[in-house]
Amino acid sequence: MLRLALIGFGNVGQGLVNLLISRAGLLKQQYGFDASVIAVATLRRGSLYHADGLDLDALLKASQLGAFRHYPHTAGLTRDWSPQDIITRSNADVVIELTYTDVTTGQPATDHVRAAFESGKHVVTANKGPVALHFHELNALAARKGLFFGYEATVMGGTPNMRLARLGLAGCVISGFSGIVNSTTNYILTEMERGHDYEIVLAQAQALGFAEADPTGDVEGYDALAKLVIVVNTIMGVPLRLDAVERQGITHLTAADVTDALRDGYRWKLVARAQRHGDGVTASVCPERLPLSDPLASVMGVTNAITYETDIIGPTTIVGAGAGGIPTGFAVLGDLLELHRGTR
Ligand SMILES: NC(=O)c1ccc[n+]([C@@H]2O[C@H](COP(=O)([O-])OP(=O)(O)OC[C@H]3O[C@@H](n4cnc5c(N)ncnc54)[C@H](OP(=O)(O)O)[C@@H]3O)[C@@H](O)[C@H]2O)c1
Repeated sequence: MLRLALIGFGNVGQGLVNLLISRAGLLKQQYGFDASVIAVATLRRGSLYHADGLDLDALLKASQLGAFRHYPHTAGLTRDWSPQDIITRSNADVVIELTYTDVTTGQPATDHVRAAFESGKHVVTANKGPVALHFHELNALAARKGLFFGYEATVMGGTPNMRLARLGLAGCVISGFSGIVNSTTNYILTEMERGHDYEIVLAQAQALGFAEADPTGDVEGYDALAKLVIVVNTIMGVPLRLDAVERQGITHLTAADVTDALRDGYRWKLVARAQRHGDGVTASVCPERLPLSDPLASVMGVTNAITYETDIIGPTTIVGAGAGGIPTGFAVLGDLLELHRGTR
């Protein structure tokens, strides 16, 4: 039985718990996987800790009611532990870090991840901040402590792209990759094909919840940049920092740029690209005019994709969901299963 502590209980945390409920029988039967959630912590809705595990249905219900004070009291339940208390003092085997992403400071998530490893707990996260900013430090700390560090959910939400490269393409040399890894910009570029300019489509994306009120992180390419850095470090084994990558967003593109390209057999896409050169890589996040024959050119709307270039089977493209609570929770679950199987 794997004991889980969730730091952050928003879309992804709830998505994960829904999967733990709905797939419990299948996971137990097919993989011998059994997990209990022993703690959850949030910023404003309180926290819960019970060493023997929480009732997942009651947890979701309390969360839907807006605060964990609606969770029924049972003997042994603690309601006032901070995230740090839960990380350092609980009996969790795995800390699942699901607070908001900050790719400038990496906090508070980086402190959570460090504290978890220091107290001997495995970590799984969907949070790009700590991984993109402190890749080597955190992986080295996990290795030194003999602990698992899973972060599949940081890139392409639920679509197992790094797992494909690490496990499915094992034995190949991956010379590079190109990807559409930001859903917001791909949605905007797709909608601009109707002839609407950037500002109009952005407003529409914001109204539909596909773009943040402050869209800078997405439309200027920072989100894709963090994902690119994570994939380069993980899959290509090359240390690459955020500030070493050329980055350009999509805000300068007009509806005419998009429709003219299409007329000529091309599509503008925000592409995260890396190519190995000797011991190093060149990498960029920039809008590119892709020929329609490129598999990435047909990836539309909020869908994501990555093409890995391999020496044995040539290019391999994986296409799928880039976000969403359940899909991203599924990627977290995939890491937990990997930890359970001990394949790393
Ligand atoms: N949603 C997606 O599709 C997706 C896809 C890939 C990766 N991710 C990443 O996954 C993470 C979680 O995303 P989400 O969509 O679940 O976010 P969310 O819905 O905004 O939930 C964030 C959770 O973190 C809690 N939190 C924030 N600061 C905290 C702190 N200092 N201590 C404890 N808890 C804190 C919040 O508390 P309150 O409940 O009190 O606000 C909330 O429960 C983010 O890093 C995100 O970038 C998300």
